Amino acid sequence: MNQPVPAPPAHRVDVHSYAQPHLVSTRHIEMDLTVDFDRKVLHGWAELSVLRRDAAAPLVADTRDLTIDRVETAAGPKGKLKVANYTLGKADPILGAPLTVPLGEGVDRVRVHYSTSPAASALQWLEPSQTAGKKRPYLFTQSQAIHARSWIPLQDSPAVRTTFRARIRTPKDLIALMASRHDFRLANPKEEPNGEYTFRMPHRIPSYLIALAVGDLGYRQLGHRTGVWAEPSEVEAAAREFEDTERMIQAAEKLYGPYAWLKYELLVLPPSFPFGGMENPLLTFATPTIIAGDKSLVSLVAHELAHSWSGNLVTNATWRDFWLNEGFTVYVERRIQEQVYGEARAKMEAVLGRQELEAEIAKLPAADQLLYIDLKGRDPDDGVTAIAYEKGALFLLTLEEAFGRERFDQFLLAYFSTFAFQGITTQDFLAFLQQNLLKKDPAAAAKVPVEEWLHQPGIPASAPKPVSDEFTRVDEAVHAWPAVPPATITKTWTTHHWLHFLRAFPADLGAAKMAGLDRAFSFTKSKNSEIAGQWLLMAARNRYEPAAARLEAFLIGVGRRKFVRPIYEELVRTPAGRVRAETIFAKARPGYHPITVATVTQILK
Ligand code: BES
Ligand code: ZN
Repeated sequence: MNQPVPAPPAHRVDVHSYAQPHLVSTRHIEMDLTVDFDRKVLHGWAELSVLRRDAAAPLVADTRDLTIDRVETAAGPKGKLKVANYTLGKADPILGAPLTVPLGEGVDRVRVHYSTSPAASALQWLEPSQTAGKKRPYLFTQSQAIHARSWIPLQDSPAVRTTFRARIRTPKDLIALMASRHDFRLANPKEEPNGEYTFRMPHRIPSYLIALAVGDLGYRQLGHRTGVWAEPSEVEAAAREFEDTERMIQAAEKLYGPYAWLKYELLVLPPSFPFGGMENPLLTFATPTIIAGDKSLVSLVAHELAHSWSGNLVTNATWRDFWLNEGFTVYVERRIQEQVYGEARAKMEAVLGRQELEAEIAKLPAADQLLYIDLKGRDPDDGVTAIAYEKGALFLLTLEEAFGRERFDQFLLAYFSTFAFQGITTQDFLAFLQQNLLKKDPAAAAKVPVEEWLHQPGIPASAPKPVSDEFTRVDEAVHAWPAVPPATITKTWTTHHWLHFLRAFPADLGAAKMAGLDRAFSFTKSKNSEIAGQWLLMAARNRYEPAAARLEAFLIGVGRRKFVRPIYEELVRTPAGRVRAETIFAKARPGYHPITVATVTQILK
């Protein structure tokens, strides 16, 4: 009666989840959660509706630091919930603990009553002092890569896709927002009278894209399907910075087919947000550090928007395939930027990306330089390096140049539509590549060492090298230094030029030359987060004391891992620097997200 279900092929097995979705897999999740700021917990229940492929198999869900109160099961949509047995396994430091629920005949709903831990890795509970408004607390989630399990018991694998519906109960003066469709009136969300919000995600999405934020929020519509959320005092600046969002969507649609989602909104978070951006569907989460006042850092919006195709439509089936998400997204991001802001800017961004890739390769062990990286026994966050992003994008650029834009664009369009709303592995991609591109033009295919791209460290010698004419002129200014370039030239420089300018100086340039640069351009006072981040990294490296106070303030005020990590790494290289790093971390730590705390703790170890 019970046909044994064959085990999936090795490349499809997700080593970062206990779930066995080939036996039992979740199709839909209902949630009812109360947000308790006093205790810093979420409590309530989550109910998984499952599809059973093996009649004897239990449901196995992932959890981390959850307190399970009880489990109920039911058969059919109208079936009565009955208390059920379950076991919570031993907790693994990376994976958390498996929750196993035996399923009786016909049972297809499993409701878990639980509460989260104040230390839940996905949640950051902010004090009012950490917000722009300073009056209300704030909560946000970050589920990627495997943190969703710390706030919802679920099958936390990107190969499992579900719809969901959620009721979120908040204190009355706060607004809850999920990356989904919401039922309150957009114009005046504060009308919601009793702090109860209902959300519905109509698209099937992987668990790492489930997201919630609670705080004092305002909204501004941008276009017919675009808008921005932020704390009320930040909304206007955000709306101005992101005014090109609709043009970005159109640029992507022109290449890769219609935007498949209901709308595209952004939520600007407080500065402790550990990432630049997070592509939560319908509602990208973004760091406020990209609001530069001149749109110079909006490639991040292009990036998160690009995930609406690469990642959210076509998803890595396991974290080993992460480069399919990020490498494709960086490639698409640059194609969007080129259309909206022109070729010169896209080229500069490509060159800056290549610099980041080379710097990363200089630091990483060979095994971590592979696109198809082995992450077994490791935290999938270890795979979040420039390899997945920039080496991945460079691989696609190589294919584009070998086969020509027109054919490569057609190939990607077909790729996105073929695999839409599916999780795929690197092998799946390779098979599709072989069929739809390589086989069709063996002469072009011979120019691309596909195996080397995926399985060898470093960058293949035949990789294209992006060049920027803008940067050639910046290089001239660097060569002429200490002659200060005329203001008539530097006044046309954007964030990109300045970043290239700073990076072009030797790493050990010394405090005296740093002082000269600072006198000419006041880098220590820069309000641009990217320029400040680059400059303060150089200040740490060259022990440039006049920037010490700014460095400390920056590390305390900003939790974005991309900025924080390299500066701490640089500081710990000397005994005196280590002492400083420890002193700063002691002050900054209460304001950091658990993910950033973990990163810095690792560096200081
Ligand atoms: N999805 C990522 C962020 C992420 C990756 C979070 C892995 C957790 C685990 C997001 O799309 C991203 O790539 N953000 C970048 C910005 C981008 C412009 C390179 C970031 O946060 O710096
Ligand atoms: Zn990304």
